[in-house]
Amino acid sequence: MRLAGKTALITGAARGIGLAFAQAYAREGARVALGDIDFDRAQAAAAEIPGAMAVRMDVTAQESIEAAVSEVAGAFGRIDILVNNAALFTAAPIVEIERADFDRVFAINVGGVMFTMQAVARHMIATGTRGRIINMASQAGRRGEALVAVYCATKAAVISLTQSAGLDLIRHGINVNAIAPGVVDGEHWDGVDTFFAKYEGKAPGQKKREVGAAVPYGRMGTAEDLTGMAVFLASNEAAYIVAQTYNVDGGNWMN
Ligand SMILES: NC(=O)c1ccc[n+]([C@@H]2O[C@H](COP(=O)([O-])OP(=O)(O)OC[C@H]3O[C@@H](n4cnc5c(N)ncnc54)[C@H](O)[C@@H]3O)[C@@H](O)[C@H]2O)c1
Repeated sequence: MRLAGKTALITGAARGIGLAFAQAYAREGARVALGDIDFDRAQAAAAEIPGAMAVRMDVTAQESIEAAVSEVAGAFGRIDILVNNAALFTAAPIVEIERADFDRVFAINVGGVMFTMQAVARHMIATGTRGRIINMASQAGRRGEALVAVYCATKAAVISLTQSAGLDLIRHGINVNAIAPGVVDGEHWDGVDTFFAKYEGKAPGQKKREVGAAVPYGRMGTAEDLTGMAVFLASNEAAYIVAQTYNVDGGNWMN
C-alpha cells in the first residue's frame, strides 16, 4: 500500500498503459481518476477499479483540461499524482508528412503534457500539495527514426519538458519525472504495426515480431512491465528524484 491515501489523475487511462497504471495505483491504495477522450471506455474501466472515477478529458482543449482538474480535485479533495499518459502515434516518410497530422500529434503529445502539467501544478501549489508528475516519454524520444519523425520529436519534447518542469517545480516540492518505455504490446502497437505494414510492405504482425525479437530481454513489453516504475516514482521512496527520464524497455536503450 505504497500510495495509501493518495489521489491520482491519469490521462489516456481508458486502455493500455494508462489503465494498467490506474489498476496498479488502486492496488497500492490510491484513489484514481481515469481521464480520457473516450469517456465511455474510461467509465467502463473505472467501474472495475475500487474507488476510481472516470473523467471526460481532451488534453488538446484548455477548457477541458481545467474542467477535468477541478472535477477530480472536487471529488477527491486534492490531486497528489498526475500521470501525463495520453498520446497518439503517427508515421510517414518526411516527404509525406502533412501539417494537419503534425499539428494534431503535437497538440496531444506535447501541448497536452505541457498544459495538463501546468493546470495540475497550479492546483498543487495553491493547495500546498507536494505532488508527483510523471510524463510518458518513449525510446522514440531518445533518437530519431526514419518514418517516425513527428512522434519521435514529440517524445523528445516530453523529455525536455520533464527536465525544465522538474527543475522549476521542485522548489514547490513537486517532483516531475518521466518514463521512457520501449515497445509495449497492445492496441497502440497494433496501430504502429499497421503503419509499418503500409510503409515497409510488411505482413500484418511482422513488425511486432521483429521488434519483440530485437529486445535484449527477448520480447515486447506489456503494460504491467511498466507499473513498478510508475508506482515507485509516485511513492515517497522517489522523493529525491527530480527531472529524470527512466528507460523501462527490456534493455533497448542505455543512457
Ligand atoms: N505502447 C508502446 O509501445 C509505447 C512505447 C513508448 C511510449 N508509449 C507511450 O505510453 C503512453 C500510453 O501508450 P499506450 O500504448 O497505452 O497508448 P494507447 O493508444 O493504447 O492509449 C492512449 C489513450 O489516450 C487516449 N487519448 C487519445 N487522445 C486523447 C486526448 N486528446 N485526450 C485524452 N485522451 C486521449 C486514447 O483514447 C487512449 O485511451 C503514450 O504516451 C505512449 O506514447 C507507448
